[in-house]
Amino acid sequence: MNEAEKSKMLVGKEAAKYVKDGMKVGLGSGSTAYWMVKSLGERVQEGLSIVGVPTSAQTEKWAQEFGVPTTNLSEVSALDITIDGADEVDQNLQLIKGGGGALLREKMVAIAAKKLLIIVDQSKVVDHLGSYPLPLEVTPFGWELTAKRIAALGQEPIIRLNGKEYYLTDNGNYILDCKFGKITQPEKLHEQLIQIVGVVETGLFINMTDTVIVGNQGEISVLEKK
Ligand code: 5RP
Repeated sequence: MNEAEKSKMLVGKEAAKYVKDGMKVGLGSGSTAYWMVKSLGERVQEGLSIVGVPTSAQTEKWAQEFGVPTTNLSEVSALDITIDGADEVDQNLQLIKGGGGALLREKMVAIAAKKLLIIVDQSKVVDHLGSYPLPLEVTPFGWELTAKRIAALGQEPIIRLNGKEYYLTDNGNYILDCKFGKITQPEKLHEQLIQIVGVVETGLFINMTDTVIVGNQGEISVLEKK
């Protein structure tokens, strides 16, 4: 296992400790969230009683595999905590998410929770968002026109592919990856993008994160909302 993977495992295990008996837990997506779901599964085997709301079909499969009971967002009015990965975290705990294509469900599950806990390895912590291309979930209907409207903001988006096909989200939508470069005003950019008809959601998670657990070379540090 390489250093990055070890950090992901470390923060995934650490995050699972934040979950207490009786909690309703949003289960994030991606390779870091995998370790959190696995650790929760181990705690469930030891007697922890929780229910999870997965943010993707893949996470649902992992929850089943590791024995974490699940429900869906329509069945629960509020979650105690959501634990998820991220593609970038800036100094104000603003995020880029959606590298795995699950950004819409991730955002819906994040805002349903009293606390959003993000788990990353050090490589994801940045001074400014934007090195990582910003994912946007868009409707397949008329996506080319949506892409042109996004391009008018400065950068030509790239349609995400799965082999030779367009990548499809769990919601049946497409993803446009946008290299805006350094994002100095993430909130403003989100507002501009979300107003474009055809954009279903952006990967900018603004003012949502309470805590970030960062793993680096076997060590853990915790960043809290100021
Ligand atoms: C999926 C996400 C993931 O949380 C993000 O891509 C981080 O993934 P990983 O932990 O595999 O690096 O937003 O839509």
